Amino acid sequence: MAPSELYQHCLLAMLCLAPTLVHGQSSKADIIQTCLTSANVHSTISTDESWANDTASFQFRLQPQPVSVAFPETKEDVASALGCARNASVKVSVLGRGHSFQGYGFGNPGNLVIDMGAFIELSFDDSTNQLTFGGGSNVGPTAKYVHDKFRRHFPHVRGSHVGLIGSSFGGGYGTTCRSLGIPSDNLVSVEYMLYNGTIVNAGPGSDLLWAAQGAGSNFGVALSATTKTFELPYNGAVSYSLAVGEVDTDAASAALLAIQKWALDGQAPDSISLRFSLSNFASAGFFYGPEAEFDSAMAPLVDSLQTISPAINLTKTIIPTFWEAEVAVAGSGMNLPTGGTLGGRASLVQSWTTTNQHPFTLTQAKALLDGYRTLNRTDITGTGFIDLWGGVSRDIADSDHAFAHGNNLWLARVDGVGAGGVWPSDGVAYMQNVFKPFEDTLKTSAPLRSFVNYVNSELSVKEWSSRLYGANYARLRKIKSVVDPTDLFSGFGLAI
Ligand SMILES: Cc1cc2nc3c(=O)[nH]c(=O)nc-3n(C[C@H](O)[C@H](O)[C@H](O)COP(=O)(O)OP(=O)(O)OC[C@H]3O[C@@H](n4cnc5c(N)ncnc54)[C@H](O)[C@@H]3O)c2cc1C
Ligand SMILES: *[C@@H]1O[C@H](CO)[C@@H](O)[C@H](O)[C@H]1NC(C)=O
Ligand SMILES: *[C@@H]1O[C@H](CO)[C@@H](O)[C@H](O)[C@H]1NC(C)=O
Ligand SMILES: *[C@@H]1O[C@H](CO)[C@@H](O)[C@H](O)[C@H]1NC(C)=O
Ligand SMILES: *[C@@H]1O[C@H](CO)[C@@H](O)[C@H](O)[C@H]1NC(C)=O
Ligand SMILES: *[C@@H]1O[C@H](CO)[C@@H](O)[C@H](O)[C@H]1NC(C)=O
Repeated sequence: MAPSELYQHCLLAMLCLAPTLVHGQSSKADIIQTCLTSANVHSTISTDESWANDTASFQFRLQPQPVSVAFPETKEDVASALGCARNASVKVSVLGRGHSFQGYGFGNPGNLVIDMGAFIELSFDDSTNQLTFGGGSNVGPTAKYVHDKFRRHFPHVRGSHVGLIGSSFGGGYGTTCRSLGIPSDNLVSVEYMLYNGTIVNAGPGSDLLWAAQGAGSNFGVALSATTKTFELPYNGAVSYSLAVGEVDTDAASAALLAIQKWALDGQAPDSISLRFSLSNFASAGFFYGPEAEFDSAMAPLVDSLQTISPAINLTKTIIPTFWEAEVAVAGSGMNLPTGGTLGGRASLVQSWTTTNQHPFTLTQAKALLDGYRTLNRTDITGTGFIDLWGGVSRDIADSDHAFAHGNNLWLARVDGVGAGGVWPSDGVAYMQNVFKPFEDTLKTSAPLRSFVNYVNSELSVKEWSSRLYGANYARLRKIKSVVDPTDLFSGFGLAI
């Protein structure tokens, strides 16, 4: 070997081998960043000053550990980022606005994260009243655009900074969903860039749209999505609180069942939202209609609750405009161009849904309330509530979308929140054990069901696939094998 050849050989060896000898992750990071830089896509790695900001996640319990974060500005940049990930054999996570309670926007350690922050374009089609939003759009500015410019609304979640793609892919639940459906129901199409850079528009009737409606993070980068919009439900709202007073869990469970009966008997209007608090047993929500209609809808409920607790106390506030109600629902960030800020906590969320066919029994309701009551640690505090679902889900079948939510009646959610942003090492086991008796009695009626956005990140594949997708899971697996055959988008906890 001539000296110059030897030199070249060493240089190649150093480039290709030396970093892997030092550390697997940093070698991938260098390869990825070199590739992204030559494709003119801005990216950062762990040694960059902005890394803490670039990997900021709402969920503090799980520390994001990607190899690199890419910041594409154009579709071509996204294609380049996908190409770099494929060539380096790393998986891709798409980051919307970072609110996932399970840290799914960053996914497993070692991913290339594609941050969609630059994709916030909005457009509205007058002929169809459909709204198209970019893959990095968040709730506040988008809802405000549709409201201010077109006097219309689309159902969204209760957080102004939350990402629209993420919250819609996860089902989504907000205060107008009983009458207008959930965000995923209202998706009309999703513009995906697949693993190989091909762009497809998943439209009505397509397998891919069906799959996106509950499992959308599995198939590609959503460059944009299109949703139905609606006339404002009512220009104003009644914000109310319905307290049952200081009662034990026997009375509180009976109160919950009285509310359930009111809903099952068809007395709860679709235009009302109701959230029952597990900490003080008060219900609160918004009614989108005239005060007199609210009063007459609530009258039979108040009557039946009075027989359980004479201290029942219904209070209401009239909100003069729909937009002020939106701000009351989703926060002052609704009026900010950025939608507000990320925030965060160290937490574990668990959730369960029930259906009209299998409403809560008294035993089940009491097990949930009693479970919550046993939370007694200083290093973990609880928050918990049960949203009344019902409404138009009565017209939805489990097989209509990937996320099985036909005929849902309740959405129960409990969070353990680590004090001071710190999560104790035994916290997951503790929180799961506290609600085990409830789960055990719940599954005597029907197989357990859950909600994608609030799924317990610690469930096994068998558990989450049946709770979220039920019989739809087999079809989802087929679609996944066609659309993402190399599992490029499988680096996260709900990978199909
Ligand atoms: C303060 C707060 C309030 C909330 N309120 C509600 C509520 O009222 N109702 C409710 O249902 N949920 C609620 N959520 C949950 C929230 O809807 C979900 O966590 C949602 O997934 C967050 O989306 P994101 O883009 O902000 O998060 P991210 O962590 O960025 O993304 C979440 C998931 O979506 C994927 N994703 C995001 N954008 C894209 C894209 N462009 N292409 C492909 N995949 C993408 C990510 O890969 C990830 O799997 C709330 C969360 C928070 C933190
Ligand atoms: C991190 O973000 C904050 C606020 O979003 C900003 O003030 C700060 O300059 C950022 N830091 C770096 C190093 O980019
Ligand atoms: C990936 O590798 C192929 C084959 O070597 C190459 O043609 C392509 O340009 C690479 N992609 C990127 C984004 O660098
Ligand atoms: C009813 O609730 C309101 C608002 O929470 C409170 O101000 C009022 O004191 C309560 N009334 C009774 C009788 O408990
Ligand atoms: C907390 O609850 C657990 C189980 O519910 C119980 O065993 C324990 O004694 C309680 N601890 C305190 C300090 O009350
Ligand atoms: C990209 O992948 C999709 C899905 O597997 C396939 O249909 C399409 O033909 C591929 N595009 C190219 C350019 O190979």
